[in-house]
Amino acid sequence: MAGSQTNWGVLLEPAGPGPKHEQLARALRQAIREGSLDDGVAVPPSRQLAADLGCSRWVVTQAYAQLVAEGYLAGRTGSATRVRRVAGETGPKTPPTATPPPRYDLAPGLPDLRHFPRRAWAEAVCEVLTTAPHTDFGLPQPGGHPRLRRVLGDYLRRVRGAAPGTVLVCGGVTDGVTGVCRALVERGHTRLAVEDPGWTRLWRAAEGAGMAVEPVPVDGEGLDAGRIPAGVRAVLVTPAHQFPTGVVLSPRRRAALLRWARDVDGLVLEDDYDAEFRYDRRPVGTVQGTDPGRVALFGSVSKTLSPALGLGWAVVPPQWTVGTRPPPVVDQLALAGFVESGGYDRYLRSARLRYRARRDRLVAALGPARLSGVAAGLHLVLHLDQDAAAVVGRARTAGVKVTDLDGYRAAPGEPALVLGYGNLADTGVEAAAALLREAMTTA
Ligand SMILES: Cc1ncc(COP(=O)(O)O)c(C=O)c1O
Repeated sequence: MAGSQTNWGVLLEPAGPGPKHEQLARALRQAIREGSLDDGVAVPPSRQLAADLGCSRWVVTQAYAQLVAEGYLAGRTGSATRVRRVAGETGPKTPPTATPPPRYDLAPGLPDLRHFPRRAWAEAVCEVLTTAPHTDFGLPQPGGHPRLRRVLGDYLRRVRGAAPGTVLVCGGVTDGVTGVCRALVERGHTRLAVEDPGWTRLWRAAEGAGMAVEPVPVDGEGLDAGRIPAGVRAVLVTPAHQFPTGVVLSPRRRAALLRWARDVDGLVLEDDYDAEFRYDRRPVGTVQGTDPGRVALFGSVSKTLSPALGLGWAVVPPQWTVGTRPPPVVDQLALAGFVESGGYDRYLRSARLRYRARRDRLVAALGPARLSGVAAGLHLVLHLDQDAAAVVGRARTAGVKVTDLDGYRAAPGEPALVLGYGNLADTGVEAAAALLREAMTTA
C-alpha cells in the first residue's frame, strides 16, 4: 500500500492516449481502484507531483479536480487532497459504468428532453422533404445552408442583439470553438484564457486543437480581463450567464474585456449557450453586438431543443471564418423553417415558463440552502459547509445525481454543487430536493 515511501512518479506515470492530465487521472484512478492507495492517503501536493512527473502543475490540478468530481479524491482548500472510498464500500471501487442510473438526475447540461417538440420538429422536417428544391439535396455547402445562415443572422440580431458578421452553421458550440481554436493556432496563438470555474469540456476541445488553457478566476462580476496573463490574446467567456457560477458579466467588466481585446489585438470567444432563458428580466445582449470585429459568438440548440440534433452557429469577424461541421442539410433547413414560422419562439416562450416554475420550486424545496446564480438558464449553485465529494457520494447512493463544482475548476475550491434542473421531471423536484437535503445532513 502507498505511504510516505511511495514513489509517486513511478506509480502514476502518465501513459496511453489523450492529453496528459487525462493520462494522469487514469493512472491515479486505476491505482485507487486496484487498492494500491489506501483510503485517506494524502496524494502529493500538485507542485511536488508535477516536479516528479516533469509536467506542468496545471496537468496535476486538472487530474485531481477530475477525480474529486468522480469521488475518488476529497479535497478542501488549505488541506491535503486525500484518497476516499464511498461510504460502505470495502473493496476496490466499482467502475462508474456499473452504477445504476440515478432516480433523479440533477447533472447540469440537458434541457427538458420530455418536452422536445416532436410534432413541430417532425412537421418542419416533413416540410423540408416535401417542398425543398431538388438542388438542396446536392453536396452540402461549407459554412452551412445559405437559408439557415440568413435566418440565424436575423434571429440573433432580433433576440440576442448580435451584430452582423459571418454566420457559420456548425455542430454546436464545441465544434465552433474547436474550429476557431484551430485557426488561432495556425496564426501563432498558443494560449487561451478561460473562466475558472468553467465548462471543462471546452477547455479540452481547445487543448485538442493545440492550445494551452490558462484558467482565470471568476468572481461575482464575472471574468476580470485585468487578470488575463500577459502574452495571451484569446479568451473564452460566458458573459450572459457564466457557467457554472451563474453570474452575469458586469457592464464595467464587459467594457474592460473589449478594451483588453483591442489593446492586445486579440479575440474574445463568446459562448452564449443558454441566454434564451432568463427569468427575472430580459437577458443581457451579446458582447459581440458591441464589437463584432473583436468577438466570435457561439450558440446552439443544445440547451433549447436537444444536444442530439448537433446544431449550432458561430458569428465570426470575416478574418476568422473557419471550417466547421454543419449537421445534415435536412436538419439545417428544418431549423430554418421552425424559426421562420415562429414555432421556435413559441417553444422558447413555453419552455421559459416551465423552467422558471421548476427553478422556483427547486429553490423553495431546498429550504434555507445557500444558493447562487441569477434566475436564468438550467442550473444553479448550492454552496456547502462540508466536503462536496462526500455529499455527491451520499446523494448518489440515495438515487440523486449531483455534480461537484470542483469538476469545473482548475484546482479544488470552496465546496459547492452544481444542480441542473433542465431535465428534472416536474414530478420529482420535491423528492429529489428532500433526498439531497438528507445527504447534506447525514454526514
Ligand atoms: C457552458 C456551455 N457551453 C456550451 C454548451 C453547449 O455545447 P454544444 O453546443 O457543443 O452542445 C453547454 C452545454 O452543456 C455548456 O454547458
